[in-house]
Amino acid sequence: MTPERDALIEAARKAAGQSYAPYSGFPVGAALGFADGSIVTGANVENASYGLSLCAETVAVAGAIQAGKRGGLVSVAVAAGNGGPVITPCGRCRQVLTELAQLGGTDPLVLCVGEGEILEMPLSELLPHAFGPGRLT
Ligand code: THU
Repeated sequence: MTPERDALIEAARKAAGQSYAPYSGFPVGAALGFADGSIVTGANVENASYGLSLCAETVAVAGAIQAGKRGGLVSVAVAAGNGGPVITPCGRCRQVLTELAQLGGTDPLVLCVGEGEILEMPLSELLPHAFGPGRLT
């Protein structure tokens, strides 16, 4: 049973509370939903060497891999901790999410959550013609 949409959105918002974003002051939370109903979350982790900062989605994927996930990714929610407008995953995160998605042969629905607005589309629309593990065979 896949996670409920509202639960996934709530998990992303809550995850933003674990953010370490002293430089941008822009906390972000991400929640990954899996086919077995489980949810893995992450938040952005910034660095004094700014370019080394990690986005919430990337941290969530790393957590999922560490938890043994190798597929079954069916949904993703991304939310800014301070509310505000919709945010969409950056290019690097689209690629990182694609790795986990292609491992299990899924095309997860991505929910970009803003205050009073949700933009949603499949990951393949955010990163068309993606390069991933499926292309290395
Ligand atoms: N950020 C994310 O964590 N995810 C996104 O989808 C967009 C941007 C982070 C990176 C940085 O720590 C902060 O937001 C400002 O760009």
